[in-house]
Amino acid sequence: MDINSLSAIITGGGSGLGEATARALHARGASIGILDLEGSNGADVASSLGGVFVPADVTSDEQVTKAIADAAAAHGGIHILINCAGIASAERTVSRDGPASLEGFSRTVNINLIGTFNTIRVAAAEMVKNDPTEDGERGVIINTASVAAFEGQVGQAAYSASKGGVVGMTLPIARDLARDGVRNNTIAPGLFLTAMLMGLPEEAREALANVTPFPTRLGKPEEYAQLACSIIENPMINGETIRLDGALRLAPR
Ligand SMILES: NC(=O)c1ccc[n+]([C@@H]2O[C@H](COP(=O)([O-])OP(=O)(O)OC[C@H]3O[C@@H](n4cnc5c(N)ncnc54)[C@H](O)[C@@H]3O)[C@@H](O)[C@H]2O)c1
Repeated sequence: MDINSLSAIITGGGSGLGEATARALHARGASIGILDLEGSNGADVASSLGGVFVPADVTSDEQVTKAIADAAAAHGGIHILINCAGIASAERTVSRDGPASLEGFSRTVNINLIGTFNTIRVAAAEMVKNDPTEDGERGVIINTASVAAFEGQVGQAAYSASKGGVVGMTLPIARDLARDGVRNNTIAPGLFLTAMLMGLPEEAREALANVTPFPTRLGKPEEYAQLACSIIENPMINGETIRLDGALRLAPR
């Protein structure tokens, strides 16, 4: 789809990969809706792009339904959904304190996996109302998994399960939405320099960057945004998970 004049909603758009994608889509002429937590940086990012901030927790049926309806009303529909809302978590299955917290596991899966499906189902219901392009396209959805979906490290059972779920549902959702001309794809990033990674000490960040074969550095959020734009523009990319990782394969720890 030609991004110019389309309406986009970006979850987790207040920070990191989502913010960079919102900026890239805005630069290509899209109207921007930022869906992020109340009190996040989402309102500032939206106002800097002349867009709308539609606060919501991605795990809430009610909040997501309202946020997407508000963004659609503001911009005359929704054509693009970028799912970047997510959290990182780390806990071994069994530690010195005993078994991992079931609540912690559920929280990660709830935000990263169920939250992603929640926004997809509501936004796709808006997209199917769009007039098709010449190619029959009505919308594009891009989700964010992680290389941890494939090579989860020690402590990443919950995170990997949540991201593996995103990879697993990519094809069936693309199949479900095919008759309506809506594509669904997933990007599986390696290590990108965002607030999520800035939480680690500099030494740990450097060590992670050094294990990336080429380029031997952390990814830039703009590089994620660049791939998101390419996926939107190329109608043959559908039902696929694309690794964006400089050939990185995570070691056990
Ligand atoms: N940075 C990396 O190296 C990396 C690597 C692989 C995958 N990812 C994934 O990319 C996505 C974006 O990560 P990032 O690095 O930009 O992180 P980030 O922390 O910079 O941004 C995440 C955003 O999601 C929002 N968010 C969190 N929980 C939410 C909820 N329940 N409802 C609505 N919004 C919520 C936060 O407020 C924040 O604005 C995440 O899904 C993350 O797992 C990141």
